Amino acid sequence: MYTKKVMDHFTHPRNMGEIEDASGVGTVGNAKCGDIMRMYLDIDDNGVIRDCKFKTFGCGAAVATSSMATELVKGKTVQEALSVTNKAVMEALDGLPPVKVHCSLLAEEAIHAALWDYAEKHNIKIEGLSKPKNDISEEEEKPEY
Ligand code: FES
Repeated sequence: MYTKKVMDHFTHPRNMGEIEDASGVGTVGNAKCGDIMRMYLDIDDNGVIRDCKFKTFGCGAAVATSSMATELVKGKTVQEALSVTNKAVMEALDGLPPVKVHCSLLAEEAIHAALWDYAEKHNIKIEGLSKPKNDISEEEEKPEY
């Protein structure tokens, strides 16, 4: 049911934990399944993501997508980090079962929420980033994949 990569990231999650004094923190949940994901970003003066950590209270796919998402955004600029969509995360994991697609949306949205927090704190605008939702379950009917 799950690919090797999903199992690997689920059993050995990368970058789990939190960042003290993070540049941006984003928390999103899905009221339908009750899962919650929190992303921490450490961003340098040039707008490059130096570090990213996550805490996920949720299913295995949510853990695996959080882990992969942290790997994908590290080293990217805040602008480039927007390319880390749920589709990109799923591709990097060699796919997810259809019923688990919403878990990857949580990862995309958590990154956006952390970027939004960073932008607000620094009074900047990240082109193409709109205000994230705290609860993504309303979007579930029409996931992007
Ligand atoms: Fe909801 Fe996976 S079951 S995030």
